[in-house]
Amino acid sequence: MIAKSFILVLLVAAASATPVTQDNSMIGYSDAVGMFLQAWQKIIPCGFAAENLPVLAPFTVDFQAFNYSNGNTNLVGNVSNIRISGLNNFQILSGGYDNSTQRAHFDVIFPQLQILGAYELEGTFAVGGLPLPVRQNVLLNKKLIDWRFVGEYKFAESNSNGLRISDFDLKYFVADVQSDHWDKYLDVAANNFVNNFIESFSMLFTEEIQPYVNTLFSMFVLPTINDLISELDLTQLTNYFVMQAEMWNNAGCAVQV
Ligand SMILES: *[C@@H]1O[C@H](CO)[C@@H](O)[C@H](O)[C@H]1NC(C)=O
Ligand SMILES: *[C@@H]1O[C@H](CO)[C@@H](O)[C@H](O)[C@H]1NC(C)=O
Ligand SMILES: *[C@@H]1O[C@H](CO)[C@@H](O)[C@H](O)[C@H]1NC(C)=O
Repeated sequence: MIAKSFILVLLVAAASATPVTQDNSMIGYSDAVGMFLQAWQKIIPCGFAAENLPVLAPFTVDFQAFNYSNGNTNLVGNVSNIRISGLNNFQILSGGYDNSTQRAHFDVIFPQLQILGAYELEGTFAVGGLPLPVRQNVLLNKKLIDWRFVGEYKFAESNSNGLRISDFDLKYFVADVQSDHWDKYLDVAANNFVNNFIESFSMLFTEEIQPYVNTLFSMFVLPTINDLISELDLTQLTNYFVMQAEMWNNAGCAVQV
């Protein structure tokens, strides 16, 4: 859910990319990306209505019902009072762009993401074709510690003589996952068991999924980004980041979170 909304925001932000004519030639690509990220960090506690950018720090959902049905899985339920904090609290550990090789690299860390809220669901969950009844009423309380993204990519030429990202390589790490959920239908021992399972499974999942991250990224994210930058050259893309940063900075968001 976090990853999804994070990528969504990057895409929303990138979707408003328009070539601009102002000359920012004194500012390099890497500095422009840094300015963009710092301005994003400042604006997301306020959101930016003109670009449909919602408030993301904290990101909240008061109530959302769902009804999911797929084969033998039928789940009806809702989430409420969801609050995800820490999305604005990232640090850029390093970042740079080498003009001669056209390679960029980055290293970004979210020191702490906290997810609070509640969900209820009822229905059947298919395990190996077998519909198992499920009923949960859970208070969510979860923390991700030191969620870090280290990556690099290269700019190549698109079919329309603009930019295209190639050789994308991303590694991500989580130092710790702390799960303190409370399901009112379970007793203390069962809740502890579930929380321990979630903690170790989350860490294992992080390691297990690592080899597939680049494939998933190139299937679901890169095509959209490449489409957006296919008509831009590096100067235009740099200008876009600088202009966007100026717009967000000028909005003067003073909310501290
Ligand atoms: C959920 O959706 C199914 C079919 O899409 C429908 O039959 C059912 O009544 C729905 N349940 C609720 C509680 O909305
Ligand atoms: C969802 O939320 C409502 C409260 O509006 C509650 O009455 C309902 O039982 C909830 N749970 C499920 C599983 O739909
Ligand atoms: C970057 O490299 C291109 C040639 O690949 C060159 O034309 C341009 O002036 C260089 N820009 C900077 C800022 O060094």
